[in-house]
Amino acid sequence: MYENIKKKILVTCALPYANGPIHIGHMLEHIQADIWVRYKKLIGYNNIWFICADDSHGTAIMLNAKELNISPNVLISDIFYDHLGDFSAFNISYDYFSSTHHIENMYFLHKVYYQLKLKKLIKVKSILQLYDTKENIFLPDRFVRGTCPNCFSKNQYGDNCSSCGAIYQAEDLINPISSISYTIPVMRSSAHIFLDLKKLQTVLFQWIQSGVMYDQIVNHMKTWFKKDLKNWNISRDLPYFGFQVPDMLNKYFYVWLDATIAYISTFKQFCRQNNSLNFHEFWKEDSKTELYHFIGKDIIYFHALFWPAILEGMNFRKPTKIFVHGHVTLKGIKFSKSKNNSITIKNWLKYFDSDSLRYYYASKLSANIEDIEFDIQDFVYKINSDIVNKIVNLAARSASFLNKYFDSVLSKEIENHDLYNHFVSLNYQINNFFHNGEFHLVIKHVIQLADLANQYINDKKPWNIVIKKGNRDLQNICSMGINLFRIIMIYLKPIIPDISKKSELFLLNELSWNNLHIPLINHRIAIFKPLYTRINIIDINDLMI
Ligand code: MSP
Ligand code: ZN
Repeated sequence: MYENIKKKILVTCALPYANGPIHIGHMLEHIQADIWVRYKKLIGYNNIWFICADDSHGTAIMLNAKELNISPNVLISDIFYDHLGDFSAFNISYDYFSSTHHIENMYFLHKVYYQLKLKKLIKVKSILQLYDTKENIFLPDRFVRGTCPNCFSKNQYGDNCSSCGAIYQAEDLINPISSISYTIPVMRSSAHIFLDLKKLQTVLFQWIQSGVMYDQIVNHMKTWFKKDLKNWNISRDLPYFGFQVPDMLNKYFYVWLDATIAYISTFKQFCRQNNSLNFHEFWKEDSKTELYHFIGKDIIYFHALFWPAILEGMNFRKPTKIFVHGHVTLKGIKFSKSKNNSITIKNWLKYFDSDSLRYYYASKLSANIEDIEFDIQDFVYKINSDIVNKIVNLAARSASFLNKYFDSVLSKEIENHDLYNHFVSLNYQINNFFHNGEFHLVIKHVIQLADLANQYINDKKPWNIVIKKGNRDLQNICSMGINLFRIIMIYLKPIIPDISKKSELFLLNELSWNNLHIPLINHRIAIFKPLYTRINIIDINDLMI
């Protein structure tokens, strides 16, 4: 694989709603993207930037604030700092984190709106909408439930179906019920603005097939084009928490419009802080820079149709690639705050650390969108067996002799060049696995190496060698163990940053991809301190909120 490490790259995660705490389901995405960004940096990319923001608008946030008896502004500001703390506890290396409520986002939103109007991509149309006569409000889509018009599964929200993923209007739901008053809503007319997707259909159809997503997803998306794409309603009635449509009374922009635009405005804010970045270089139509999004499979429609449609309308560049992941589930059910089925980051950290979850997820992540079942037994077993027994133990057993009998100095030679070279030669494969998001294959191959390294020590039985100060064989074997441990840790550095940091302090050497082929020779290491301690199974109910 040819790598141009001078390339300029922008990476984003989907913007989490500022409507509650981050849970370990959300964290999958941030971990996945962070591993990818850290791997790129490790192999030498200096021009890679990683941004995100809170998605701070919409009805759910407005109603949540109402329930808590605080203003939406206070709610989103509290949650903003809460989210920042969670991401930093998991070593998610954001260069910039903002909010969709930022004034810069309003500026770009208006810009997009007027530009789309100019291009005649915006239509105004009166539509019939569900109206709650008891509460006297138009019902926001999240506050109507009914049967999905596409797959007929019951109890679905008014905007999209959690079962089949279809996107529709609340009015299309079969047997709708208001979730606020539990009455049957009536139809009332209201004017709305629509993005004319039909006009962009050909461009979008070509774009989704240009290698930006896995084939599995593209094939699924093609079915959406069998009929004409429906125009997208980008406005909402009062009451709403968001940005107002400038030239219509009492209308707000739909949260999903300003959420995607925040990819642009957040980057703009970052450019204001960082003079070396050129905003237009990234967003102009013929940009040579790259743009990667990490998202969950539930929001493909927004990112693979609406978002490129907006960019097309703006004459902006489109994403280079969209990485899509499946959902983290517990007994087959998606982790979700609204379904009372989640483990918050705060709870997680009461019992476990962040590297363990990063490692566990990496061992499950591949280039497809299968769901990932969180199984506490499997988790604890994997961490103890891989990290403690195979990796940390390799360092511990080798270090003890070196610390004790050789003044912590590694030998002047490499005991087994073939074995060392074999470890190094795997870097091409590991690089490809990282690049393609096949993190489970990184882990699989690294663990095979760890098994080989431990086998090497077992075969050589250093504990049987007469222990006396200066025994060259003993020093050579243990030094080999340390050097193999070092290569393993270089490969795992993007995945487990905390253990990597401790390993660097132990090796007194930076874990560097460029120096993989240069073993540590005649080099002093530190006194070994445990790099990780065994974890214990706990009752899953203690972890849940
Ligand atoms: N605010 C929108 C995204 C706007 S992007 C312009 C949103 N927010 S969300 O908080 O509901 O989800 C944020 C991300 O977390 C999404 O990519 C979603 O797929 C992901 N996940 C939420 N729950 C998840 C799991 N249980 N498992 C894996 N990912 C999950 O959608
Ligand atoms: Zn459905």
